Amino acid sequence: MTAGGDCPGLNATLRGVAKALYERLGDDVEIIGISNGYDGLINGNWRVMNRGEFSGILTVGGTILGTKRTPFKLMKVIGEDKVDKVKAMKKTYHEAKLDCLLTLGGNGTHKTANLLSEEGLNVIGLPKTIDNDIFGTDVTFGFHTAVDIATEVIDRIHTTAGSHSRVMVIELMGNKAGWLTLYSGVAGGADIILLPELPYNIERVCAAVEKRARAGKNFSILAVAEGAFDEAEAGMKRKEWMAKRAEAGYKTATNRIAQQIERMTGFETRICVPGHMQRGGSPSAYDRVLATQFGSYAAKLAAEECYGVTVALKGTQVVYNPLSEVAGKARNVPKDAEMLAVARRMGVSLG
Ligand code: F6P
Repeated sequence: MTAGGDCPGLNATLRGVAKALYERLGDDVEIIGISNGYDGLINGNWRVMNRGEFSGILTVGGTILGTKRTPFKLMKVIGEDKVDKVKAMKKTYHEAKLDCLLTLGGNGTHKTANLLSEEGLNVIGLPKTIDNDIFGTDVTFGFHTAVDIATEVIDRIHTTAGSHSRVMVIELMGNKAGWLTLYSGVAGGADIILLPELPYNIERVCAAVEKRARAGKNFSILAVAEGAFDEAEAGMKRKEWMAKRAEAGYKTATNRIAQQIERMTGFETRICVPGHMQRGGSPSAYDRVLATQFGSYAAKLAAEECYGVTVALKGTQVVYNPLSEVAGKARNVPKDAEMLAVARRMGVSLG
């Protein structure tokens, strides 16, 4: 089952699981595909898959199983449809005669995976997300492909920024975690990087633009995470500043930052929002390798009946963590992250 937002590497991981299982157990393996994430598990939307469906998908983006966001917080809430979702998921699990459920997903997916594990189901998680914010693993599949795409965006924006003497503000995905912005910002040579983990101050941002101008640089590139917020907002509850933004008619700080820079520095400023392009298309070679490592390792765990765990990369080793230790925790960019130190050493402003 694939759940949450799609990302490159989901199909490569499914292939990794399936091929390794067929290799190990031959015709004793039956793989059931659950459609559209937990929604399919709740509604009994599953089918027996054949071997051929796992061929030719290593390079294909998205997910052949379909996916959906099913809010974790509502899993235990019985809504107007009167469906007890936890009971329904357990019913599907038993109806499909699953020995084990493999869930490919991010933080929400892992929370529900842990919930089902606590309910007595055999569950193995696989960490996917372009945000790279799953606790207990150094990296998630999908992240490095997104970094490559975001880096290419920054590269391409550079030429226009330089030619037109402009400040370019590029909004990158990542609502609560800034890994994608930080890594692509460093890879693309951004001059200013703003992350949700480090509230920015617009005066400092403008000072960085002006410092570059004094040094003869006629342009500046900002890599801004979609979840970035300023110091004034940091003093409020998240809900409060989000409501203020909604009232003013905007969601992310990107436009506001661009307007402020233009007004305060006099530099012509433009924005670029690559959005879901960062999650689309074929996985990079790195992600194909990682997906194959993770998928084949999950197959080994399933064959050995090691359940209630999620796959992780620690250093160069693929390992597993108990779902209970991962669920409900996010891995944000820590203040002492090595890559932040790298950015600072390179003279990048972090706002
Ligand atoms: O979780 C991955 C992610 O791409 C985030 O970076 C982003 O905030 C969110 O998903 C967007 O979700 P959706 O595709 O549901 O709009």
